[in-house]
Amino acid sequence: MVERFSKILERAINWSKEFDNLGDWYTHLLRKSPTGTIHIHVLGNTITANPDNVEYMLKTRFENYPKGKAFSAILGDLLGRGIFNVDGDSWRFQRKMASLELGSLSIRSYAFEIISSEIQHRLLPLLSTVAGKEENSVLDLQDVFRRFSFDNICRFSFGLDPGCLQLSLPISDFAVAFDLASKLSAERAMSTSPMIWKIKRLFNLGSEKKLKEAIKLVNVLAEEVIQQKRKTDLSTQKDLLSRFMTTINDDRYLRDIVISFLLAGRDTVASALTGFFWLLTQHPEVEAAIRYESDQIMEPNQEIASFEQMREMHYLQAAMYESLRLFPPIQFDSKFTQEDDVLPDGTFVRKGSRVTYHPYAMGRMERVWGPDCLEFKPERWLQNGVFTQKSPFKYPVFQAGLRVCLGKELALVQMKSVALSLIRRFDIRVTEPSRTPRFAPGLTATVRGGLPVLIQEWRT
Ligand code: HEM
Repeated sequence: MVERFSKILERAINWSKEFDNLGDWYTHLLRKSPTGTIHIHVLGNTITANPDNVEYMLKTRFENYPKGKAFSAILGDLLGRGIFNVDGDSWRFQRKMASLELGSLSIRSYAFEIISSEIQHRLLPLLSTVAGKEENSVLDLQDVFRRFSFDNICRFSFGLDPGCLQLSLPISDFAVAFDLASKLSAERAMSTSPMIWKIKRLFNLGSEKKLKEAIKLVNVLAEEVIQQKRKTDLSTQKDLLSRFMTTINDDRYLRDIVISFLLAGRDTVASALTGFFWLLTQHPEVEAAIRYESDQIMEPNQEIASFEQMREMHYLQAAMYESLRLFPPIQFDSKFTQEDDVLPDGTFVRKGSRVTYHPYAMGRMERVWGPDCLEFKPERWLQNGVFTQKSPFKYPVFQAGLRVCLGKELALVQMKSVALSLIRRFDIRVTEPSRTPRFAPGLTATVRGGLPVLIQEWRT
């Protein structure tokens, strides 16, 4: 028993010798498991890539698999009582309110207005400047996407423009503080025991001191925005915060609600676009097919596709889903079991233990996607040229069931608009296409070293 344990521990420490990413090691173990589920004893974590288990956790017995107190504690100082960090009645209340707002036509067109202006007035001019330089200079596309998505989500949630994607590329204090606060919060999850960061927090030491300062700055800004808004006629404002302010008076609660949106909608979109452009470099035939499809639907010099035009582009939609299958921005997601239970594949899970479903591994499982599971094939999502959904439980990239991502449609519109405007105008090549992405640890998949690319104008 001791020998077995030390062997597992040795492999756990050595996985990086055999695999590029921890997710690849888990994928390897999950593939070998007959049930598609494994238990990592040292971490007290059951990890599954079995769609039946995923459906059971996220839908059938949803109440038995909340996020739990351990997760809430990690993100609690940054997110407070925001939707991303709560269970039970508080979650239900915010979910209902947010679903109503996000479902409205007016917020969708507001979001589209922001995305279009950010692309036309910032993203395209920035890339065009780089493409126009005599000597080909290298640009980190991941960094550009992070700035782009931060501007978008701030304007959408707060009605505030941090201007991260200006041509001179300044980074606002708010963006820096928010970045640091999310990074340091996520790092709490990596300490060997929660006691470590809790003691550091108690005595205001090291990373906890920095985290406290970063959160303070985020709070000052959020409070300022809320107070300014109180002085305006809220009915004329279109952002999410103003909409919530018409029903909620508690400023701290308002701050929490909006900060959750910032966290949920920022790095995810940047990560998704990074994965997509990396895959595109490897697959010029997919890029050509997207160009061809858009040429049939858009005007020759049209920079931004309309909602209706995007809806007609089935191949583009399929390419987005396919890249998210291989590179899901949230690679795994954990819940904590309320009561002892048995998963559909027969795995016993003890009360209070952690259960993780793993979209990254699921996208790489032959038994879920077939023998070509590792190939980037948008066609697998098309039936007679029409995009066709698959079970969200075998593709929980946006989670699934009762707590499915609220920003899914918005994220897809953002991704498709960026992809079309860049692909139709530029020729973008990753400088080191043979280097497979290695991800940094964190809440959202971020590629170490970014995505360095060379850019040239495709059409002038
Ligand atoms: C490609 C981009 C995106 C991906 C892959 C994604 C994925 C996810 C996932 C996996 C969750 C569940 C997380 C959990 O419960 O632990 C989630 C929740 C959520 N997402 Fe997204 N997301 C994306 C973009 C967005 C955007 C742009 C927004 C904001 C407008 C957003 C808003 C939310 C919110 C509010 C929740 C919490 C829902 C709840 O707890 O009921 N997401 N998302």
